[in-house]
Amino acid sequence: MTLRLATAGESHGPALVAILTGLPAGLELDRAAIERDLARRREGYGRSPRQQLERDEVEVLAGLRHGATLGTPLAFVIRNRDHANWAWGMSPWPPEGEASGKGTSAVTLPRPGHADLAGALKFGHDDVRNALERASARQTAAHVAAGTVAKALLAHLGTTVAGSVRELGGQTSAEDWERATDEARADRDTLGGIVEVVAEGVPPGLGSYAAKEDRLDARLAAALMGVQAVKGVEVGEGFALARLRGSQAHDEIEPGLTRETNRAGGLEGGVTNGNPLVVRAAMKPLPTLMRPLRSVDLASGEPADALVERSDVQAVEALAVVAEAAVAWELARAAREKFGGDALGDFVGAHRAYLERIRWPRARGSVR
Ligand SMILES: Cc1cc2nc3c(=O)[nH]c(=O)nc-3n(C[C@H](O)[C@H](O)[C@H](O)COP(=O)(O)O)c2cc1C
Repeated sequence: MTLRLATAGESHGPALVAILTGLPAGLELDRAAIERDLARRREGYGRSPRQQLERDEVEVLAGLRHGATLGTPLAFVIRNRDHANWAWGMSPWPPEGEASGKGTSAVTLPRPGHADLAGALKFGHDDVRNALERASARQTAAHVAAGTVAKALLAHLGTTVAGSVRELGGQTSAEDWERATDEARADRDTLGGIVEVVAEGVPPGLGSYAAKEDRLDARLAAALMGVQAVKGVEVGEGFALARLRGSQAHDEIEPGLTRETNRAGGLEGGVTNGNPLVVRAAMKPLPTLMRPLRSVDLASGEPADALVERSDVQAVEALAVVAEAAVAWELARAAREKFGGDALGDFVGAHRAYLERIRWPRARGSVR
């Protein structure tokens, strides 16, 4: 038993679609919670006007009845309001009538740092738009909605997941973030940053060292690297551990099997150890600059400025929400693998029985 998520949808196409399989029956979903998370994803100081345009209403098509899952595939659609401006340019079928609106002329000026050039070469597209539309982070809306579903499931295990910004444009103090964003905007430049996701109440024993693809640290790294513009992932103290001695780096085990430190970020051997899970992701500066970088016109082969298209100055707050969803999804997937069950009660019962077997949490001084 595992969770699976398939998504489709271009940034300015008619809609994003998602199909989730592997959820137990009887899980109650809160429509407002999904829309709250989607609204959080649109927020942030440096976002483009697109974020005000989109409403991100989730239309559930299957797998849910009267607010509770049926144990069947859950399918939903999030319509792109902006598609109205791209109806001709992003028409799925050969468009009728006169060319009008956005997307009518081919993009041939690939942006360094975006998927434009690599995607156009790979798929043989003359119009770079055919690559950038799916590479765009618009699809993260579907992943955030799936993350809210994952968090609803994890809540039944007493597990919470929360993402936050740690650094923006090299600034570690939140007081400096708006100023840094304003300065970058004035320079027609972009910024990146670092986000952290913390999961509390995680049962020990999720993930496995039995095979490398089962390691939860590996899966979390893949899930976070799967998010656009993420170029680095740390578990716990991550890179800083490399500069310490073993005596300073590891979390000593106290009676009651507790730890006074959590430098490992809640994972040892790719398995959760009962401590809070702590992971961080580094986001590069966004590749669409209003002061374009040097590129080459693919139509002429001549030097040219890269494509300038409406874009965020920075999207680090949004990344915190997307990373939270990615971690929640991966944790929920590992929990489904461990506790299984067709009905929510089976899943919750297996979790309870497991905690009883390992006598978790341990009373201080208890002996096995
Ligand atoms: C929430 C979010 C919003 C983003 N917004 C933009 C944007 O407005 N403009 C842009 O050029 N890139 C944006 N990106 C990053 C690009 O999607 C990403 O750099 C591009 O797809 C290439 O992938 P790569 O950076 O992983 O190599 C965003 C990423 C995220 C996670």
